[in-house]
Amino acid sequence: MSMQTELHTGIETRLDGSALISAKNLKKTYRMGDVDVHALRGVSLDIRSGEFVAIMGASGSGKSTFMNILGCLDAPSSGEYFLDGISVAHMTKKEQARIRSRKIGFVFQGFNLLSRTSALENVELPLLYQGLASNRRRELALEALHAVGLDKRFDHKPNELSGGQQQRVAIARALATHPSMILADEPTGNLDSKTSIEIMAIFQKLNSKGITIILVTHENDIAQYGLRNVVFRDGRIIKDFMVETRLNPEEEMKRVLATSIVDNA
Ligand SMILES: Nc1ncnc2c1ncn2[C@@H]1O[C@H](COP(=O)(O)OP(=O)(O)O)[C@@H](O)[C@H]1O
Ligand SMILES: [Mg+2]
Repeated sequence: MSMQTELHTGIETRLDGSALISAKNLKKTYRMGDVDVHALRGVSLDIRSGEFVAIMGASGSGKSTFMNILGCLDAPSSGEYFLDGISVAHMTKKEQARIRSRKIGFVFQGFNLLSRTSALENVELPLLYQGLASNRRRELALEALHAVGLDKRFDHKPNELSGGQQQRVAIARALATHPSMILADEPTGNLDSKTSIEIMAIFQKLNSKGITIILVTHENDIAQYGLRNVVFRDGRIIKDFMVETRLNPEEEMKRVLATSIVDNA
């Protein structure tokens, strides 16, 4: 596959031209008693390897429904979804599960960590499902915890960690299997602004190493850490554009800290 270099707002991203994700006219209708809820009304979107896309839109606009389809956690009512050029509907359940566990890392708003289990064991869990030996699991899990700056707290349980640290464990868990993409649904939804910046810095770093990031947020400033914004409304995409001035986490942190000093004065 030929690698081409594209420039987005001065930040170089490696894109390999072909679509990693290709959604074609996806519709999703939920039946609620006698009523049909049209969560997606025909969504088409291509995302290439190496992109960092923020999906935005009001609550109920279909963002999570779309993400669940991208993650092969749910199937569309109609339309087709190609992952790496392969139609997901034509895969067996087993193939879908394999793709989910090898190619995709999931991060959710509520962290979804096992509470009585150490950070290390939480991160090892997806590797356990892959049947890796314990030495290798530990090695990969520590490497992932290192990537999010938490390797020194590997033996802490979730209740011994802050919200931001818990989300970093969840990101490490998503990273442990070396996925080609991370799907994150409102990953900063439960975090204060300073912690949100730290999390977005981690996503930018992972993206600069070539991992495709697709992240749902309803906060406009969070979306500005990405390279591309896609806006949903009522089950449709109404906007799709490149971010003009991408936010830099270091500068944002300085700004937030300066503001909090003023607030406390
Ligand atoms: N499992 C479900 N059963 C019925 N309706 C659902 C279900 N999941 C989502 N919906 C409905 O589909 C619409 C889109 O929901 P969702 O994708 O969760 O939106 P968002 O993530 O943008 O808030 C909403 O009207 C929601 O109530
Ligand atoms: Mg949602």
